[in-house]
Amino acid sequence: MSSVVSQWSPLPPYYCWQVLIFLLYLSNVVSGQIRYSIPEEMKKGSLIGNVAQDLGLDLKRLRAGRARIVTGESIQYTELKTDKGILVVSERIDREQLCGDVTPCSFSFEMILENPMELHRVTVEIIDVNDHAPAFPNKGIHFEISESATVGSRFLLESAEDNDVGLNALQNYILNPNDNFILKQHANPDGSKYAEMFLQKPLDREEHPFLSLKLIAVDGGDPQRSGTVNIEITVLDVNDNAPVFNQSVYRAAVVENGPKGTYITTVNASDADRDTNGQITYSFSKLKGSIADIFVIDQNSGIISVSGQIDFEKDKKYEVRVEAKDQGGLTDSSKVVIEVIDVNDNAPVINVMSFSSPVSEDAPPGTTIAIINVKDADSERNGQITCSIDTNLPFKIKSSLTNYYNLITDSIFDREAVPEYNITITATDSGSPPLSSARTLHLRISDVNDNAPLFDKGPYFAYVTENNSPGMSIFTVSARDSDWNQNARISYLLEDTQISGSPVSSYISINSENGVLHAVRSFDYEQIKQLKLEVKAQDGGSPPLSSNVSFGSCSCRNVFRTEQKCL
Ligand SMILES: *[C@@H]1O[C@H](CO)[C@@H](O)[C@H](O)[C@H]1NC(C)=O
Ligand SMILES: *[C@@H]1O[C@H](CO)[C@@H](O)[C@H](O)[C@H]1NC(C)=O
Repeated sequence: MSSVVSQWSPLPPYYCWQVLIFLLYLSNVVSGQIRYSIPEEMKKGSLIGNVAQDLGLDLKRLRAGRARIVTGESIQYTELKTDKGILVVSERIDREQLCGDVTPCSFSFEMILENPMELHRVTVEIIDVNDHAPAFPNKGIHFEISESATVGSRFLLESAEDNDVGLNALQNYILNPNDNFILKQHANPDGSKYAEMFLQKPLDREEHPFLSLKLIAVDGGDPQRSGTVNIEITVLDVNDNAPVFNQSVYRAAVVENGPKGTYITTVNASDADRDTNGQITYSFSKLKGSIADIFVIDQNSGIISVSGQIDFEKDKKYEVRVEAKDQGGLTDSSKVVIEVIDVNDNAPVINVMSFSSPVSEDAPPGTTIAIINVKDADSERNGQITCSIDTNLPFKIKSSLTNYYNLITDSIFDREAVPEYNITITATDSGSPPLSSARTLHLRISDVNDNAPLFDKGPYFAYVTENNSPGMSIFTVSARDSDWNQNARISYLLEDTQISGSPVSSYISINSENGVLHAVRSFDYEQIKQLKLEVKAQDGGSPPLSSNVSFGSCSCRNVFRTEQKCL
């Protein structure tokens, strides 16, 4: 009742197929069934099978029986060539169009013969040919992935479609080799495949902001077909880079007393991140009280300038730390060393360490009068000082130690000539222009008893009228002493001499204070005509100095005498 016939086809070997023939004879209608397998897409007129032979019918019977094909389909894929008894392709057969994913894919029709009636069912199986490459629905796949994405993060990839079936359908995905991603493939319940990318090495936007990968979908056909899609990955920035200063130490110099706004230096840091993650602001970190008022930093430009008073004498050098901070809060710090350049803004200062005044007028030359210390807050030449005094004065100024000077006497004094000196010491620094200051010492010369009293003139002579009253003042002697005070305090004395065998004091006395000579008794011209005595003026010095003057006196009857001699 049935038979199986193998048929060879002239098509290439991979199109080998089998023809199955089932012949069924039912009641008086002879029925048979044959089955052919052909690849899709065969050319029009290509042989499908020799039905006459396969059904055991001769060509006459086909003609006589008016053999023909009956099909319910609108498209007639096959045509019966009754003259040869063969079935050929009459219309292009696209397996995918005919069956889609359904497999196996076949279509059936009946071949009818009359007289007697025969009905044969012919089934043609369409074998898939790898005529479709896997295709991705879109031209490209785009991802935006943060550079902070952790290893193992998964990214589902779009699947490719391959209309072919079986081995000719999509078999595999391949991701082009790259450092960051590997591919893993999975099967859906329906057997279709999809792929995911796994992050295996963290992304680094600063190194590669964009990645371009290729995903290839391949089928199992022969020849193999493939489809490709580009995977474009934009790596999103994460604030993973701190700002970095381009110098670890900045050195700058600024002139002291520089006005507000004087430029000092610019610090600069860079940040590999983008946008706000890379936007840097600068600031000083923890300035000690006073420094905060002296310097200012522009938070955007990093320019450091003067904002307060810079005084070299207070600080010769400043060290400040600067900080660069991005908007994400990451920071770096650096050091700025600012040297202050001295300006000659300080005059020397004179300090009198010791000063002896008065100085005795008999002080020998070379006696130290004063010790002077000079200071200048400026440095180097601006602080180098020379001291001087008026060269006309009998003094010298000599440097002893650095910045110490001795003021010494340079000649003998005479208090009686110059009792005091104003000594102006001038200290001048070596700056340009130089600054100087002066200090005046008022030196007094103390007295030494170096002058004896001097009588105004002498010798003195006076007449005394006889019969004078005792105690009468006869004369006044006067001496001067150019020394001072006690040394000039004069006492008048009579030298202890004899007159006619009696001490002079029994005739004449002298007021030691004022030098007034008094008659001690009444003189008698007949007894004594002439008196000769020595008056001494003695000062109060220690030892005292004195001088003598001789005093002569005559007693007479007549007061009116013209000559200074006794008769
Ligand atoms: C010294 O200076 C004082 C005060 O200026 C002045 O009174 C005095 O006359 C001066 N003496 C001399 C010797 O110049
Ligand atoms: C003053 O007179 C006395 C007595 O005659 C004499 O010893 C003394 O040396 C005299 N002094 C002077 C300074 O002349």
